[in-house]
Amino acid sequence: MLLAVPILGILTQFMRGHPLPIFGLFEIASPLSADRSLARSLKDVHGWLADGVLILAALHAAAAILHHWVLRDNTLRRMLPILR
Ligand code: HEM
Repeated sequence: MLLAVPILGILTQFMRGHPLPIFGLFEIASPLSADRSLARSLKDVHGWLADGVLILAALHAAAAILHHWVLRDNTLRRMLPILR
């Protein structure tokens, strides 16, 4: 998902017929022919996957806290080597 989100973002930009700006230094022209309807679908999937990353990160953090405070095992400590 971490790879798919930026790739779909770049494809959305190109499918809109827009160039890809690189930190304001230069631009990469779109190598694809514009298709507004496909661009809209790509943007939707891009947004859903980006939301998915946030949801999974929140579940991951909640599970780590559950392990630490409820199950009282070493999972969180293993994730934070400084606490080992
Ligand atoms: C970690 C990387 C990224 C995250 C988390 C992210 C997240 C998002 C989110 C949440 C939206 C709103 C989606 C919606 O309105 O349904 C969005 C829109 C968009 N993103 Fe990204 N994005 C990322 C990288 C990129 C990259 C590298 C590009 C390339 C240019 C890009 C291009 C776009 C475009 C064109 C839109 C639509 C904006 C509009 O509606 O005008 N994104 N992005």
